[in-house]
Amino acid sequence: MTATTTTATAPATTTYNTAGTVSAPLELDDVRGEYESVAVNGARRVAPKPKVTLTSLTVNNAGTLRRINSVVLPIAYSERFYKDVLDPSLDDVNKLVYYADIPVGACCSRVENVGAKPQGKPTLVVLTLAVLAPYRSQGLGTALVRHALRAALHPTTPPPPAPPATGTATRAQLTQAPPRKVINRAVVHVQVGNHEAKRFYERLGFKEDKVVDNYYTRMEPRDAWLLVCDDIAAALGETSVNGV
Ligand SMILES: CC(C)(COP(=O)(O)OP(=O)(O)OC[C@H]1O[C@@H](n2cnc3c(N)ncnc32)[C@H](O)[C@@H]1OP(=O)(O)O)[C@@H](O)C(=O)NCCC(=O)NCCS
Repeated sequence: MTATTTTATAPATTTYNTAGTVSAPLELDDVRGEYESVAVNGARRVAPKPKVTLTSLTVNNAGTLRRINSVVLPIAYSERFYKDVLDPSLDDVNKLVYYADIPVGACCSRVENVGAKPQGKPTLVVLTLAVLAPYRSQGLGTALVRHALRAALHPTTPPPPAPPATGTATRAQLTQAPPRKVINRAVVHVQVGNHEAKRFYERLGFKEDKVVDNYYTRMEPRDAWLLVCDDIAAALGETSVNGV
């Protein structure tokens, strides 16, 4: 979770063609089995599992992302943050998760060159991860982060921008974003004391690198653990591509 609290006026946002950016239903069956047992009129019945899908962020569901983050996370993110996460080059990374067609969580990241100068190693920086409390411990957070890691490792071509509703657009607004480079490293800051989130990321292959003093300015404790995943491929159980 990044420390960012400034609020500014949102610049106009271009709309993008998001056809095909809703995932096929996710397989959480590895964790929970194909059916779940539920109580119906006092008797146990076996019911099909609810459909779980990931959806790209768009101007139309940005309000939903904002709502989920404001309910779950202790930081108020800026207008700039909500604009940046709609960057079309991150279309395959940043997702909302729907549980039985209800939006219940989201994960947002950005790409940075972190490390030795002048050109650090391209790194996926997880900025926010939030799942509404009643929907936790079902693998949704894991699905969101693993999806972002997989997208970083296997970048796809961003969707073409769609013309704005007004029908007129500048050439820049209609220029397709270039594909990203392969990214095999990820980092995340977790507030010191949030052991649930730390364990969660460690289970996904992140390791504590250091404590960043005073990372957060507007909440206590102010320190953050910097957790690093130095080999996304290995964390995903794929052949290591370290050194990319
Ligand atoms: C961290 C967070 C996103 C995890 O979301 P989640 O959907 O509960 O994540 P998962 O279900 O994939 O895994 C969480 C736990 O449930 C367990 N779990 C996973 N699938 C499960 C299942 N089917 N049944 C029971 N437990 C399960 C995991 O073992 C894990 O436990 P652990 O943390 O003790 O190892 C969520 O707790 C959250 O939103 N927290 C508040 C915000 C926050 O701290 N964000 C992180 C900082 S950026």
